[in-house]
Amino acid sequence: MSLFTSPPVKRAMRLVVTALDRRIKRIAGVENAELTRRLEQAQRQLDKATVNNYAVELLLGRSGRGSHRTPTRTQVGGLAGEVREATGVDAAERHVHLAYRTLVVLEALGSGRVAGGTMNVLGKLSAIPLLKPPNGDVLEIGTLHGLFAAGLVRQLVSAGYAPHLTIVDPLAEVQLQPGHVLGADPSGTPISENVVRANLGLSGLPEARIRLRRGFSDDSEVRAAVSDREYGVVVIDGDHSEEGVRKDLEWAETLVASGGVVVLDDYTDASWPGVEAALEKHLEGSTRFTLVGRVATSGFLRAD
Ligand SMILES: C[S@@+](CC[C@H](N)C(=O)[O-])C[C@H]1O[C@@H](n2cnc3c(N)ncnc32)[C@H](O)[C@@H]1O
Repeated sequence: MSLFTSPPVKRAMRLVVTALDRRIKRIAGVENAELTRRLEQAQRQLDKATVNNYAVELLLGRSGRGSHRTPTRTQVGGLAGEVREATGVDAAERHVHLAYRTLVVLEALGSGRVAGGTMNVLGKLSAIPLLKPPNGDVLEIGTLHGLFAAGLVRQLVSAGYAPHLTIVDPLAEVQLQPGHVLGADPSGTPISENVVRANLGLSGLPEARIRLRRGFSDDSEVRAAVSDREYGVVVIDGDHSEEGVRKDLEWAETLVASGGVVVLDDYTDASWPGVEAALEKHLEGSTRFTLVGRVATSGFLRAD
């Protein structure tokens, strides 16, 4: 009989093994509890971060407007460079930041949306006042829900202007674009006088300084009704076809004050090639306009 098979040694070994087994289980249990605690803590932190991101996504995400409002630092810095170049204003970046707040606040409070990508909207909101138009009379051709116009008015007020706003838009329930069938708006909000007026109310502009003319910009009655002044700013953002833009540019020649600013929205936007084509041809002819810059996909013209 070997030493390890003798009953007293076997008993003693069983006792040792049982004691070791208990000890291992205790240590493993402690470590397991620690691991579980850390895992639960990480899960709580992840939940918190996810909730925060989700809330930011709800506030600034694409849903309900088609474009997100979460630009990167690099994008904003690049845009500020374009605004600086177009306007000659060194502090352009600060103005882009202020424009961003205007955009976010208006879309949060307003009905519908501002059309277009964030960079293009910020470019227009910041560059127009920095180009120092000669007066605060603004004509917007094509308004959708009127929220961009409300933002532009706020930007001009912040720059010391007392704006008077004229808008021309057919106010058809959905956006009209010749040659395109545009479906329901991503916001689900119809285009209507009620919506546009409610949104313009957010600009803080008194009703007496707002003129909303329903119709198409090439309609002679519409033109006659709003051609009573020399505008400091004309925003062309209605019919995006080459023919439509050509007519609006020709009309703008007769409307803009000396030194006035004409903004051609979606110029260089690949989705709307007619806009760039119309401007190129227009600038080849006899014109008061000089292209002073491009910011994102908007062209900025100055009238003699
Ligand atoms: C791109 S949306 C305007 C977006 C708005 N300016 C903004 O920044 O949020 C174009 C608008 O112009 C309107 N429109 C189309 N053809 C027009 C025309 N000939 N004259 C005036 N508005 C027109 C459309 O129905 C639509 O409401």
